[in-house]
Amino acid sequence: MKKLVIYYSLEGNTKLMAESIAAQTQADILKIETVKEVPAKGFRKYFWGVKGVLMKQSPALKPLNKDPQDYDLLFIGTPVWASSYAPPLKTFMKTNPVKGKKIALFCCHQGMRGAVFAKMRQAFAGNEIISEIDFHEPLKDKTQPNIIKAKEWARGLIQEKE
Ligand SMILES: Cc1cc2nc3c(=O)[nH]c(=O)nc-3n(C[C@H](O)[C@H](O)[C@H](O)COP(=O)(O)O)c2cc1C
Repeated sequence: MKKLVIYYSLEGNTKLMAESIAAQTQADILKIETVKEVPAKGFRKYFWGVKGVLMKQSPALKPLNKDPQDYDLLFIGTPVWASSYAPPLKTFMKTNPVKGKKIALFCCHQGMRGAVFAKMRQAFAGNEIISEIDFHEPLKDKTQPNIIKAKEWARGLIQEKE
């Protein structure tokens, strides 16, 4: 079974979980990056991010170096922004519509996960969502336990599916 971890991360939390999952499962990794640099500090990042979610924006992405269609199982991760997924992931979904895949969803947040998984399930209709898991600020809070949580989750899914 070919595995790919796809993620967007502004501040590194989702990146850390994505890399932990990829290391555990020997999956390839695909980092989603915007063409325009996103303000990563202070109030501007909230303004840019929340506006993007509310206005349903799809910021342009840098070219992807992996084709999700070549894989059987996709782990897809995002930070929670305004109770939803980050807009770069929306661009990814629009420009790389995936169908018929097994998908495991993960997200990082500050305590209010909101409807992120319901929205992602909707956006990835036509695929089999096999699991979802969330992490509370893993860079700041319980880093090692969160890495173990991510790895155990991924290991369990692979065992089930292989
Ligand atoms: C624009 C923006 C909106 C956010 N909205 C939420 C939210 O609705 N709920 C929440 O719990 N955290 C929210 N956060 C916090 C992030 O989800 C959290 O810090 C996450 O760990 C960041 O992941 P990253 O480091 O991979 O970017 C928001 C952060 C930003 C920048």
